[in-house]
Amino acid sequence: MARILLGVTGGISAYKAVELARLAIKAGHSVRVVQTPSATRFVGAATFEGITGAPVLGDEFEADPARGAFPGDPAPDHAPIAHLELVRRADCYAIVPASANTIAKLANGLADNLLTSAALASTAPLVVAPAMNDKMWRHPATQANVETLRLRGATIVPPGEGMLASKGEWGEGRLAEPPEVLAAIDAAIAAPTLRGVHVLVTAGGTREPIDSVRYVGNRSSGRMGFALAEEAARRGADVTVVAANVSLPRSHAIHYVDVETAAEMERATTEGFEHADVLVMAAAVADFRPSAAADTKIKKAGRDRLELDLEPTVDVLASVSAQRRPGQVLVGFAAEHGAGAVSSAREKLQRKGLDAIVVNDISRSDIGFDTDANEVTIVTAGDDQPVPFGPKAEVACAVLDVVERLRRTADIETA
Ligand code: CTP
Repeated sequence: MARILLGVTGGISAYKAVELARLAIKAGHSVRVVQTPSATRFVGAATFEGITGAPVLGDEFEADPARGAFPGDPAPDHAPIAHLELVRRADCYAIVPASANTIAKLANGLADNLLTSAALASTAPLVVAPAMNDKMWRHPATQANVETLRLRGATIVPPGEGMLASKGEWGEGRLAEPPEVLAAIDAAIAAPTLRGVHVLVTAGGTREPIDSVRYVGNRSSGRMGFALAEEAARRGADVTVVAANVSLPRSHAIHYVDVETAAEMERATTEGFEHADVLVMAAAVADFRPSAAADTKIKKAGRDRLELDLEPTVDVLASVSAQRRPGQVLVGFAAEHGAGAVSSAREKLQRKGLDAIVVNDISRSDIGFDTDANEVTIVTAGDDQPVPFGPKAEVACAVLDVVERLRRTADIETA
């Protein structure tokens, strides 16, 4: 049972927040509601009060008859400051629906009503379920504000596509359905299962210089590695990312070490691995590099052909695996082509001494390199777990669930 503070902003989909409150209570949670002034024009406080069994607050200067207590809790003797007491007790602050205006205020730290003041004072996990017209949703200002909240650790429950409130309009912007929002709330209040655990993630693709301007590289964008790092941080881990040439937005909760080449990747990963409990090696590391990079730009004039002599790089994963301490968990990635992917990955798992390897089928263009989605198989010594097609954030959850399972097994073995 958790205490959910439900912030309701103005929008036609506010009626779905009533259903969300009902589902949350049915699931055993206790719910208090705060509304913005415009939210009360869509759904009245009486509806929420009837469902939650607690007074609804809308104004910072209004006394809370329940004195900040959630249903089932004893009310304190004194009358506390409403927005501070509600968030102090809340296990989660869910803003559903979140209008473009409220999202902009949250991103900028404005505190001009009870709902936004409470958000600023809250240290509870924040879940934001936006709902608005599709043009407002797609506006770069809204997208930037949502990204700011996400990078600060908020869970964003993206709006779906469908019929919008205004007659005849169809697009992306309708509030996610209440069961989906409740699932996101449940995930956000789940115990920080990796608190105190040092997780090292490598991401992106290395670049090996040919001369002063050219390099041998690969198509890895770093999205999968960054999704893993963000999910580990959300689970409470201390996360370091060794990022090879990644130009994606960064989270304030994560420490990043930037590298370019396989040799730099090897140095940074070996150093980070000393203090790490978990290494997830999602980076695409070059297997070969030009044996002699020119200091200046190689000229075309006077050449019919140009041959590159390549020499092998160090296999970072195999090298750190050889130095591992008991209890450290090592996860690799395997980029494999079509049939036989899993058996080839299993061979890599054994050869590199890993606990798990995440297999990508790179023959498919809709997943893997430089896309937002992935579909993988997680291979461990004991089994092969297929992870269905989905956003990289979901695949990251599945990988970290396996990491947590492997850590529990390692604990048992080292005990
Ligand atoms: N890897 C590494 N150092 C390298 C090459 C790869 O640490 N020099 C890691 C990758 O980060 C990945 C795993 O090894 O986690 C498997 O990478 P992959 O390219 O699939 O395998 P390789 O061992 O390079 O074999 P091949 O390219 O021949 O399939």
